[in-house]
Amino acid sequence: MHQNAIIQRRIDELQKQGLFRSLKTVTGSDPLVDMAGRQVLLLCSNNYLGLAEHPVLKQASAEAAASFGASSGASRLVSGSMPLHEELETEVADWKGTEAALLFNSGYAANTGVIAALAGRGDVIFSDRLNHASIIDGALLSGARLVRYPHNDAQALDKLMKKHGGNGLRLIVTDALFSMDGDIAPLAQLADCARLNDALLMVDDAHGGGILGEQGRGTADLLGVAAAVDIRMGTFGKALGSFGAYIATSRLLRDYLINRARSFVFSTSLPPAVTAASLKALRLVRSADGELLRGRLAENVSLFRGLLRGEGFVIPDLPTPIIPIKVGDPLTTMEFSSRLLKREILLQGIRPPTVPPGTSRLRCTVMALHRPEQLQRAATEIGAVGRELGVI
Ligand SMILES: Cc1ncc(COP(=O)(O)O)c(C=O)c1O
Repeated sequence: MHQNAIIQRRIDELQKQGLFRSLKTVTGSDPLVDMAGRQVLLLCSNNYLGLAEHPVLKQASAEAAASFGASSGASRLVSGSMPLHEELETEVADWKGTEAALLFNSGYAANTGVIAALAGRGDVIFSDRLNHASIIDGALLSGARLVRYPHNDAQALDKLMKKHGGNGLRLIVTDALFSMDGDIAPLAQLADCARLNDALLMVDDAHGGGILGEQGRGTADLLGVAAAVDIRMGTFGKALGSFGAYIATSRLLRDYLINRARSFVFSTSLPPAVTAASLKALRLVRSADGELLRGRLAENVSLFRGLLRGEGFVIPDLPTPIIPIKVGDPLTTMEFSSRLLKREILLQGIRPPTVPPGTSRLRCTVMALHRPEQLQRAATEIGAVGRELGVI
């Protein structure tokens, strides 16, 4: 009983601080979904291109499950790779223009596995202050020294790299498109930093893959620096509408990670249905249809950013579908979110520890499937509630 009392006290504390989270049940098709019998407009999904609902992906999943079963049965090192795993890795490497690719079961597993495999005691990891939790967790798990540099500040990073020398491995790691801010890392400067200070550069493009750059190759491609990045990580669970993750890298690093990335070695591999859907999604993203969807998304992004600006919010002119509306404290943020839900708009509040204290926000994400009138209505409602709460 005493143990439950400890847990209850912790929950009470979270509630007092406005940081308690609970799950909502949502059904139906993006971007209109059902919540407790009401139809609401989804404005916080990472299914940017709408591929999660695409008939080609659904059919590929169903057929792969029918042909190969529901599970892969074990880790690939134990019971072998399926041809689908290998086909998907070949396609990823071709798409990214790298020697090799390696699948992971999720972006979280890729970041924790890769970072902790590369770095250990005696090594140094240089990580952007606003990096995703899975990068931070990988760094903590590694046992390496963790040096966090100010957000997107390559000059400060350079100084820190000069200060923290040593003979061990040095790894710079950054989100490419920041998941909670929607801004883009200065990858060219970070690549210079890596080259001049003899470090590996790893880029997490969970959110840029599929939507930015030629054929949706991602942020490094958009910025013309893909060849200067040693490890490009991406996910299938966001713009690609499926599940899982990959890294695109050299054969040398792939061989090493197959041996040392614990989330790869000690985990059952992706099931056939998921792998087949990812393969179809990738082919779609690379095709003319993918280009069309990216075009629609870009139009919606530009429209929605402009509409929010028109309501009085300070919104930078960026090509990315992640648009934060900064509120500050968690209680007002959650009140903002719940008033929007009463107006049939599902827009989650984001609070610490996902973002730093004092920067709680609504994180809007635009999809290719949103219709202009839906975005117009959403912006009007967000503006109205923002004024009610004194946020604008
Ligand atoms: C930047 C970033 N990296 C990694 C992840 C983890 O990816 P996954 O959802 O596939 O575990 C996410 C997703 O939340 C993310 O936003």
